[in-house]
Amino acid sequence: MGADQQPNLELLLRGEDGKKSTFTFFSGRTLQYYHFNAHLGNPDWAGKKILDFGGNVGGFLIGAPPTVRQEDYWCVDLHKPALERGQKTLPRAHFVFYNRYHNLYNPSGIVDLPVPDLGLTFDFILVFSVFTHTSVREMHEILRQLMAMLKSGGALSFTFEDPNYDPVKDPRYDLTVADQEVSWGPNLRHRLLRLKRDYPEIEVEQSFLRARNARWCATTSTIRSLL
Ligand SMILES: C[S@@+](CC[C@H](N)C(=O)[O-])C[C@H]1O[C@@H](n2cnc3c(N)ncnc32)[C@H](O)[C@@H]1O
Repeated sequence: MGADQQPNLELLLRGEDGKKSTFTFFSGRTLQYYHFNAHLGNPDWAGKKILDFGGNVGGFLIGAPPTVRQEDYWCVDLHKPALERGQKTLPRAHFVFYNRYHNLYNPSGIVDLPVPDLGLTFDFILVFSVFTHTSVREMHEILRQLMAMLKSGGALSFTFEDPNYDPVKDPRYDLTVADQEVSWGPNLRHRLLRLKRDYPEIEVEQSFLRARNARWCATTSTIRSLL
């Protein structure tokens, strides 16, 4: 399923006197509840403890029905400005800062810091569009730690990007919302095409063909305007 079809993201550069400085990222996505609800087979959410790992401003909860109570929702993230905004919007929910290093979201954090112990276990641990921002090693390490925070009988669900997934071949994908420029081919090609708008030097077809048989790959870019 194309979980990232409508990212609706807000990227802000915050700084005193309007100067570019700190990177601030607020996600405006609120489809997470519907995504996980469908994937988990429409479970009963009432009274269930939920950990939204990398939940940013709490978009999961904003888009969820009232059966999901603020009090039952924990958002752990390493990007402080997003947590502060989330806590303001959802005052009875739990927003927990995780001071782990991330080159973009938390460059002054601690490398490989373990996931904080929240003092409880969860019925649902949900991770939306987070492991698309970590290495494979980090993903495995974090998943191991998250599994230890799951209640017996609970569910952990996360999104990932399969570089070889081709939406055109998936009858469930809503092509009417797809980027018109991106009309064929797998995810990796779509990503490269998107990046090409800002980095015209990217050789999309050659890079795509070269990486076709790789087990995993990462696309990286430099945000020049921040430097
Ligand atoms: C693309 S945003 C997605 C936010 C939210 N899940 C959503 O769907 O709108 C990625 C989020 O993951 C967080 N993040 C990245 N690496 C993380 C890590 N190792 N641990 C916790 N959060 C992380 C970032 O700070 C950011 O808020």
